[in-house]
Amino acid sequence: TADPAAPARRVLLARPRGYCAGVDRAVQTVEKALEQYGAPIYVRKQIVHNTHVVRTLEERGAVFVDETAEVPEGAIVVFSAHGVAPVVHEEARGRSLATIDATCPLVTKVHREAVRFAKDDYDILLIGHEGHEEVIGTSGEAPEHITLVGGPEDVPNVEVRDPDKVAWLSQTTLSVDETNATVAALRERFPKLLDPPSDDICYATSNRQTAVKEIAAECELVLVVGSTNSSNSVRLVEVALDAGADAAHLVDNADQVDPEWLTAATTVGVTSGASVPDELVQDVLALLDRHGFSDVREVESAREKLTFSMPKELRRDLRAEA
Ligand code: F3S
Repeated sequence: TADPAAPARRVLLARPRGYCAGVDRAVQTVEKALEQYGAPIYVRKQIVHNTHVVRTLEERGAVFVDETAEVPEGAIVVFSAHGVAPVVHEEARGRSLATIDATCPLVTKVHREAVRFAKDDYDILLIGHEGHEEVIGTSGEAPEHITLVGGPEDVPNVEVRDPDKVAWLSQTTLSVDETNATVAALRERFPKLLDPPSDDICYATSNRQTAVKEIAAECELVLVVGSTNSSNSVRLVEVALDAGADAAHLVDNADQVDPEWLTAATTVGVTSGASVPDELVQDVLALLDRHGFSDVREVESAREKLTFSMPKELRRDLRAEA
């Protein structure tokens, strides 16, 4: 249907995009648990924040629940990539559940930092989004010590016991730039503010933001494939707009792309959140192709090689089987 007289239409495809090491591990954990133990395998919360992934696993016999109380006594339950508070482990033990913890190791790292700062009696300012599962899990490590800070606007109202004994931590999937602004505001109020030992925003979050920044300024439209409850995907839309894209939209799949968006565009950027299988991106590229965007150029800003081994509870049984 492309008009041969129309200006050349092209796609800039961001790389890295899509699955991170933590999501890959979490999804494989459920798949392997289904193979190893058979259905049903219970999963507390969405294993990763992607509608397609959850639906596909459901079809294979995973049962998603909101709380461990919904899991029958003695059954197997997988904890999602976003991590859980210690009280959830206790509840599971209380119900004699066999647990497989698919918490991303980079989230576990933040949990450990929280425990350590709390042990040293610091007030911990956790930068993150209220109600997000990761924030609930991390806060649960030291509820008495942790105060949530949503962004720079919250900083004037933060209350601490001793302004000389304050540390900050963050959710792993925030905007790098906004978090820097929040930390700067916090440091202004608390000059002795202690940093986490290493960045809490994970490599995948920051690499995907850098990659979309590289293409955004050249694009009239950026399409971010991801679900609305995926923090890192939503951030990619904001980063694309901040970096100069005229428009940016979050779409779960190709069906959600409104052809109207494409009429005025000559360069469309495409990327995806860390919980998004690449087949969904390929569907969007196929749709763009049908609208005359057949020139696809991949713009790579980093190489990622990180992988994580399976949770130890699962590794033990897989080994025993081998
Ligand atoms: Fe882990 Fe970062 Fe992915 S914290 S789950 S590697 S987005």
